[in-house]
Amino acid sequence: MADASQTPSSGAHELQQKFASAAQAVNRIFRTILKEETEPGEIERPARLLAAMRHAVFAGGKRFRPFLLIEAARLCGYHGTGASLAATAVEALHTYSLVHDDLPSMDDDDTRRGKPTVHKAFDEATAILAGDALQTLAFDILSRDAVHENPLIRSDLVALLARAAGIGGMAGGQMLDLAAEGGRLDENAIRTMQSMKTGALMTASCEMGAVIAGAPQSSRDALRAYGQKLGLAFQIADDLLDLDGDAAALGKATAKDTARGKATLAAHLGADRARTILAETVSGCEAVLQPFGKAAEHLAAAARFAAERSH
Ligand code: IPE
Ligand code: IPE
Ligand code: MG
Ligand code: MG
Ligand code: MG
Repeated sequence: MADASQTPSSGAHELQQKFASAAQAVNRIFRTILKEETEPGEIERPARLLAAMRHAVFAGGKRFRPFLLIEAARLCGYHGTGASLAATAVEALHTYSLVHDDLPSMDDDDTRRGKPTVHKAFDEATAILAGDALQTLAFDILSRDAVHENPLIRSDLVALLARAAGIGGMAGGQMLDLAAEGGRLDENAIRTMQSMKTGALMTASCEMGAVIAGAPQSSRDALRAYGQKLGLAFQIADDLLDLDGDAAALGKATAKDTARGKATLAAHLGADRARTILAETVSGCEAVLQPFGKAAEHLAAAARFAAERSH
């Protein structure tokens, strides 16, 4: 884990700029989309639900998945504007997953992105509905012409995100995570659960970047492999930060996983072994990016960031 005394990894400054530009694009789009006026086909936008959605979306957040989609597209030679919209769709889906993850019936957390969780700032029913509406918003966004002029590409993007988010992906992984509380999963079962609850959406973000760029199958496959490894690295780091991170920097409570008996590699194998797997996984990310050469340096830096981050 990085601390203030360590030098940032190479490329860290450029990476920060890339994160910032992905975040700006996504925030701009969310501001125009999360407005009071209805869209065609809508009847009314209840103010309380809109406020809860805005609370969740504008609380901050690293916008890591939007960065992945935009950067994967760029790596595949993309120059259009629709990738930012698709990236906003992924962030809406991710934000919904956090709003529901924090509910009393799930991880029961009071703080997220440095602010009260949605069910604390509003109420539980509003948080459930805000999550629901953010999830459908993701697919609403992906269906828009401005994402890509080719409807087949748009439907590919919808399918990728749906499969990553549903029963065989994020939602399924969240089910396995909750079912494992207080029990004992073996290492493979933990890896499967993490590849679903966290890896699937990261993998989809990378692959969606390749799809919007019209990249060949070999690039899609390489970016999928990168996303899978990155998701594992990201969740191991998240679990280690829960053990020894700084709650203020993270914007969420720490020491919750042990208390709830969460199945993590750090709990199952010990923090030292988890750190070794983390380092190996980051090397694996760099290895699968090799075919892209130097053009993939930002994605390689993102893998190092995922492992070394303090937030
Ligand atoms: C938190 O995701 C949930 C996990 C998958 C570990 P992030 O760490 O990307 O959260 P934000 O979006 O920056 O708040
Ligand atoms: C969250 O995993 C994964 C999803 C939200 C899909 P965690 O429960 O570990 O995430 P945090 O620590 O609450 O952000
Ligand atoms: Mg959880
Ligand atoms: Mg949680
Ligand atoms: Mg966590």
